[in-house]
Formats: sequence, C-alpha cells, structure tokens
Amino acid sequence: MYTPYPENMMESIKKVEATRAERMSAEPRRLTADEKDALLKEFHPDYNPDAFAEIKVGPNKGQKAPVELAEMLHSTSRILNEDIDLTKIDYDVDVLVIGGGGAGSSCAIEAHNAGADVMIVTKLRIGDANTMMAEGGIQAADKENDSPLQHYLDCFGGGHFAARPELVKRLVMEAPDAIKWLNELGVMFDKDADGRMVTTHGGGTSRKRMHACKDYSGAEIMRTLRDEVLNRQIPVVEFTSAVEIIKDEKGQAAGAVLLNMETGDYSVARAKTVVIATGGAGRMHYQGFPTSNHYGATADGLVLGYRAGVPLLYQDSIQYHPTGVAHPVQIRGALVTEKVRSVGAQLVNARGEAYIHPLETRDVNASGVIRECREGRGVEAPGGQQGVWLDTPMIEILGGEGTIEKRIPAMFRMYMNYGIDMRKVPILIYPTLHYQNGGLEIDGDGFTKAIPNLLAAGEVAGGIHGRNRLMGNSLLDVIVFGRNAGKRAAAKAKETEPGTMNLDHVAGYDEELKSACAATDEVSPKLLPQYARHERQI
Ligand code: FUM
Repeated sequence: MYTPYPENMMESIKKVEATRAERMSAEPRRLTADEKDALLKEFHPDYNPDAFAEIKVGPNKGQKAPVELAEMLHSTSRILNEDIDLTKIDYDVDVLVIGGGGAGSSCAIEAHNAGADVMIVTKLRIGDANTMMAEGGIQAADKENDSPLQHYLDCFGGGHFAARPELVKRLVMEAPDAIKWLNELGVMFDKDADGRMVTTHGGGTSRKRMHACKDYSGAEIMRTLRDEVLNRQIPVVEFTSAVEIIKDEKGQAAGAVLLNMETGDYSVARAKTVVIATGGAGRMHYQGFPTSNHYGATADGLVLGYRAGVPLLYQDSIQYHPTGVAHPVQIRGALVTEKVRSVGAQLVNARGEAYIHPLETRDVNASGVIRECREGRGVEAPGGQQGVWLDTPMIEILGGEGTIEKRIPAMFRMYMNYGIDMRKVPILIYPTLHYQNGGLEIDGDGFTKAIPNLLAAGEVAGGIHGRNRLMGNSLLDVIVFGRNAGKRAAAKAKETEPGTMNLDHVAGYDEELKSACAATDEVSPKLLPQYARHERQI
C-alpha cells in the first residue's frame, strides 16, 4: 500500500476515501450571506482584536492596523540622522518606478511607450516579486457568456461591497485588453485546439473567466514582462531600495532616496513623477502566519507613501489564502493554487466530510478551514500543525487520468519532491498569508490621494478589491493599474518642471511621532524579513 503520511493521517484518509463516491455525486451547498458573515466574524483572523493596534500619527491616525504594520508606521526613518545631499543627483529621470514586479514592469513599459525617460529601481532583482509567485491565473470577461458587468458584480460582491467603484470599473473594463496585450507580448496562455483561451472558475466567480498558463501563470507573465523591459533597455537599478520619497517646494513628489543593499550607500534619484509599485506584506507574517509571498514582501511602499502623507485604505484587511501547505513542514505556507479546487478537488475534514463548497470566496473558505481545525475536525501533521484535506484524487476521477500533470504540473512536482503523489492521496492544507487587500489610496488614474505626482500601482494600492480579493484579480490589477500608472506618470511628467528637492516631511513625521509618544527604536521600511541574514547593517 502507498503510505506517504504517518499513521494518523493515513487513518483519516481512509475516511476521505470512504465518502468520496457520495461526495462526488452531490456538490456541497453554498452558504447563505448570513452564514458567511457569522463564519467570518468568528474565525477570520481580521476579527482577532488582539492582532491590531491603533495608528497614532499620520492621515489614518486613530484607525487600526495589524500590530506589525502599526509598529512600522511608528518607526523612525532610516535617513533621519543621515546627511543626504539633495544637490548631488545620482539619477535624473522623468518617471521613477519603485519596484520591479508585474505592476512596476507594466508601468515602465507603458511610460517608455509614451516617450518618457523611465527607470526602475528594485531592492532585489527585476521579477523578484509576488507576480512571479502567482499560480492560478488572471481574470477577464472576454467570452460570449460573460461581460465586464458580470465581472464587476462578482468583484464588488466578493469584496463585501467595499471596493471603490471607479477602481473596480477600470479593472473589469480594461481586463480584456490586458489579456490581449499580454498575449501579444508573448505570454503563452493555455489554449484549446482552436486557439481559444481555456478558462476556469475561481472562488466567487459566476463565469469561467480565469485565463491561465498551467499553474505558473505569474511566472510566465513576469518572464514576458521582464524580457520586454530588458529588450527595450529600460534602466533597472537592482539591489537598491527606495527608503524615502523626496518632495519639492510645492509638496509634489520629486524623487526618492535610494539605499544600495550591497554597499549600504545612499543615492538620490530625481524624477518628475514617482510610481510606488513595491507589492505586498506577506513577509511581515501578521499573526504568526506563514506566507505564500516572495522574500521581499515587507510592506515598504506603505511606509514610503504614508510617511509622505498618502492615506491608507483598508490597511486592516488581510487575505489568508485558504490552501497553503500544512504538510510537509519544509514547504509550510507555500501556495496550493485555488485552481486545484477549480479543476475538481474538494475541501474535506478529518471525518471525510465536505464541510463547505470549495469555491466560496477566499475569506470564507479560510475561515472554514480554521473552524474545522479549532473545533477538532482537523488532521494533525507531524510537528503539530493542523489542517484539512484537499481531495486531489478527485481531479483525476473527474477530469480523467493525466489531468493533474496537464493542468497543475507545478503542484504535482512540488509534492512529488516530498514523495507525495497527489493523484493518489489528498494533500493537507491550512490558510497562509497571501495578500494585503488594502493599501495606499489612489484615484482611477493611479495618482495617490494627497501627494501630487506620486502614483501607486499593484498590491501596494488599496480600494480595488474592497475587503476581500477574488482569485485572478491581482494579476489583472497589476497589469491594468501598472499600465495606467505608466501612461499617466509619463503624461504628467511632460507638464512638470523639476523643483527644489527637500525631505522636510521626514523630519515633520518624526516630530509628530515624538509628540504622540509613539516613536519606537525600530527603523522602517524593513526591506528584508526579520529572519534575513544581514551581511551588512542595512
Ligand atoms: O490560488 C491562486 O492561484 C492564487 C491566485 C491569486 O491570488 O489571484
């Protein structure tokens, strides 16, 4: 007999196998709105009052944020006591893009198209970003049975009606063109024999509109964008972090102070417009959760923007992806794409019960997993981690032999590396910190609220997804809002004359911290996770 798990897990698998035929004949019912609300309030980590703290300074003073984020907003600027000579300009460009992921790269390509002198600065390498880690796909309503209106309703409802309507409208209306753009750039989307895009459902979608490149959609999209940036010879300054926004005498963004991650030296970039595209915050490990995010996801852009005066929106709303790896421990928290459920796997507890519909929205399914584990219906993995089963053998039964290797080959390989054949046995999952639903407040064109000539795009921006994002709307958001930011930043740069640069707001923020007695001994932005090996003091 094939036994890749310890005895207690194999015992539970017998129950999963015993109920499989019956479960396959009747899909679990959908929860009512009231049932979902009750589940969220009791089990979603966003409702854990101990995990949040009050923000003491800045535009969101008095509101709550995850404790770890509040601490960063109360930390001292890295350059407060540094002698930064703003008359010595190291880089002088029209558009400065901070971040080399999907949003930053799309932005730079469009700014370049518009004739701007654009430069990307990125703290790791171009492509080291959450975009690269994205698996399941990218939404767009481009099939006959679908429409941007339908996409809007799914997105707005899935986000608890909290998204900014003008942002959702832009997201869904520009989605079909985003797919066309990527396809023409060379992204190898899954297509059928007639050349039509293969599309599937995601949690909370009323139509099959998930376009994918197997289960490494983000890597394929990032590969293409990176090639395009490099082919166009857009300058990319790698291993260099932006640590503060620079303003001019009118209070407009006018550049950024940069830190060389290898030498520890500071430099000055002057720009007519600045785009923050620094991505997410998973490596802050809110509430001790593991994460599906890339190594550099440390909320840098939130700190940069906030200290410059940009308000945050929904900074207290975090996405825990329901299916992170719970076992084996070596890859705990890694993403098990929602596509595994799209192609047929059910969520099943230790008793073999399909206790929830597998394609409820993410916040609901994450809460469901947590409830099952807290109430004793979880399965314990070696080391004590609890989880529930994702019944992957169902995929092959439903879709035919070979479906797993064809549709989700990266998942298959990831588990086979640990001797687990997901075609034969279910896999154990638990929620993982995946996405920040909120971020810097922007308008429909990507300009930040409050600071002229400063834009934000991608995961660092808030309001597009409300308080819960649907699968595939993040890859879409980085393309749509990245492209838009590039076009707008280039246009605005044309009508901007460089002013005199200053960092007065950095000193002002520090004064505010001191008078609120909120200052800590820490510095921010963090730039690298807590457990990073620091060869030098950065
Ligand atoms: O499950 C996933 O593949 C994740 C997709 C997303 O966050 O959009």
